[in-house]
Amino acid sequence: MKKDTKVICFANNKGGSGKTTTCANVGYSLWEMGRRVLLIDGDMQLNLSLSFFSEEQVLDMAKSERNLYHAVCDQKDLKDYIVRTPQEGLDLIPSSTLMSGIEFQLFTKWQREFILKRCLSSIAGSGEYDYILIDAPPTLGGWVMNILCASHGIIVPVEASPWGLFGLANMFEFLGQVRDMARDLQTMGIVITKVNTRKNYFKQTMDALRELKEIPVFDSYIRIDSTIEWSQDNNQPVAAYRKSSRSGAEYRALAKEVDEYAW
Ligand SMILES: Nc1ncnc2c1ncn2[C@@H]1O[C@H](COP(=O)(O)OP(=O)(O)O)[C@@H](O)[C@H]1O
Ligand SMILES: [Mg+2]
Repeated sequence: MKKDTKVICFANNKGGSGKTTTCANVGYSLWEMGRRVLLIDGDMQLNLSLSFFSEEQVLDMAKSERNLYHAVCDQKDLKDYIVRTPQEGLDLIPSSTLMSGIEFQLFTKWQREFILKRCLSSIAGSGEYDYILIDAPPTLGGWVMNILCASHGIIVPVEASPWGLFGLANMFEFLGQVRDMARDLQTMGIVITKVNTRKNYFKQTMDALRELKEIPVFDSYIRIDSTIEWSQDNNQPVAAYRKSSRSGAEYRALAKEVDEYAW
């Protein structure tokens, strides 16, 4: 197996498309497979952090200086910002509500598109992790550009709904614009989320996405399942909350595809 750490981001400018849920659960499934995983919460909504820690713990981390916002603003080595989750070998860099102001902070900095890449370089270079997974916010700006420039791959979660596809063209246009800067970035694939297989609409979504020339579609897709919401309410990935759940199995299948692609 290659030693290099793979940095993969989960991005889509549409909110509610399943980015955070997919990032947390793919991370957990890769960890179940024996991979060493670092998750980075890149969104001010703190949802990735809430997938592993209680609201109280997440707010404490967000209010402290030990989170992604301060690391990026001060251009610090991210290895000093790692928090251990209850799962050994599955770690997290928490976020802050101050992330809402990150664009302004980046604005005056030298080579501002590459700040996150620089902050990550020692962790990524050490080989300590097999995967670094970054949860992106639902925006397309300087911060997401930082995330793309720091990544080897992008996974785009898309909700299987009429509005889920709307706006994807903007996303691909943005990816085209950053192509020259994000030189390592591969468009790994779309994951269709929140699927209701009883609706014909799902098949239509699947067919429309498979026609896109910019990006392939993963064979695995994730169906709507209230167990996911219960697991989030309990600050756990779905397979940790209920090991034999259908969503747990779906995310395991997706993680296997991601792992086959990445290694
Ligand atoms: N497969 C699913 N079944 C049911 N609810 C889901 C599923 N995936 C995500 N959700 C819910 O949809 C909402 C948006 O998901 P989230 O992962 O936060 O999207 P994003 O990060 O793109 O905004 C959340 O409330 C989450 O609980
Ligand atoms: Mg999110």
